[in-house]
Amino acid sequence: MVRIGVIGTGMIGQAHIRRLGTSVAGARVVALHDSDPERAESVATSLDGARVYPSGTDLIAAPEVDAVLVSSWGATHEPYVLAAIAERKPVFCEKPLAATQQACSRILDAEVAAGRRLVQVGFMRRYDPHYRALREVLASGSIGRPLLMHAAHRNPSMPTWFTGDMLITDSAVHDLDVARWLFADEIAAITAYTPTRAARAPEGWPDPLVLLVELAGGALVDIEVLGNARFGYDIRGEVVGEDGTAELSESAGAVVKRAGAVRGPLPATWLERFDAAFDAELRDWVDTVRAGGPPGGPSAWDGYAAAVATDAGLAALHSGARTVPELGDKPDLYRAQ
Ligand SMILES: NC(=O)c1ccc[n+]([C@@H]2O[C@H](COP(=O)([O-])OP(=O)(O)OC[C@H]3O[C@@H](n4cnc5c(N)ncnc54)[C@H](O)[C@@H]3O)[C@@H](O)[C@H]2O)c1
Repeated sequence: MVRIGVIGTGMIGQAHIRRLGTSVAGARVVALHDSDPERAESVATSLDGARVYPSGTDLIAAPEVDAVLVSSWGATHEPYVLAAIAERKPVFCEKPLAATQQACSRILDAEVAAGRRLVQVGFMRRYDPHYRALREVLASGSIGRPLLMHAAHRNPSMPTWFTGDMLITDSAVHDLDVARWLFADEIAAITAYTPTRAARAPEGWPDPLVLLVELAGGALVDIEVLGNARFGYDIRGEVVGEDGTAELSESAGAVVKRAGAVRGPLPATWLERFDAAFDAELRDWVDTVRAGGPPGGPSAWDGYAAAVATDAGLAALHSGARTVPELGDKPDLYRAQ
């Protein structure tokens, strides 16, 4: 049984805690911390014997905690992930791994110095059955060499605390990670385009936004981000290869053709669309922690590369210029993954 301490008991923290208690075998949440202690206390009432810690670092150091799950706000992740590495404890960190390229780089340095991979980042799309099926088609070679990808990330609305820049750092970050993962390649350049602002978008937001992403191997990925689509949560992906195309299937529900019309389900939110993916990522993380091995999911390098890409995306958005990210060399620790 892996005894888990959770830092950040807000929306996704509570969703992960529920999953760890219901759909993930071999795990128990034993410790909680939130900068809002009342919130942590109220979440603790639903858990048998979970203790609330006054600080995240106390929780990480506690002998009763085998592994740490960080789901506080992105800008607060770095010190917690560094403390977990210092304690040699496995840590699952929600995306973003940390707020900037420099902060992620400090995490890479710490993990490399520790000599083993301890960090998994919450890019759950890599566990989504539809994305996995798409990746299998690419790996099979059946559509030939992939040349292009068209991706769309349409959100019904954005939380009140969101900013325009977060369309890149919090939304497009998933699509940027998917592009790296599907093509097994790194991002070589990004250009940002902002067409006419949607009437429903807040003043000054780049909504909609299109990122044109050049991969090092020459493939091109266009990512549309729409923050205030209203009609539902709509995630698209189509890869164009030399010999055919492969498209992300949209959802698990049946498509019904009847009375001259076609109807199918459209998820209302990301929690619904990626429900199975969240289950699978936590199961996999807990299984690897129990086995004592390195995590099998997105690594600190993936979190770092995504932060490099979002920094470049922001620079492209604010300058209007094609921006080349400075990724640097991949440490040996991450070469075999
Ligand atoms: N994988 C995904 O698709 C996905 C989806 C939603 C959120 N997230 C990520 O999860 C994280 C949390 O998002 P959320 O929507 O749950 O936010 P939230 O505001 O609902 O919850 C965050 C919690 O962290 C607490 N907190 C803030 N600073 C803290 C600190 N220094 N120490 C301890 N606790 C602190 C807050 O009090 C709050 O309870 C973010 O990094 C977000 O990007 C990922």
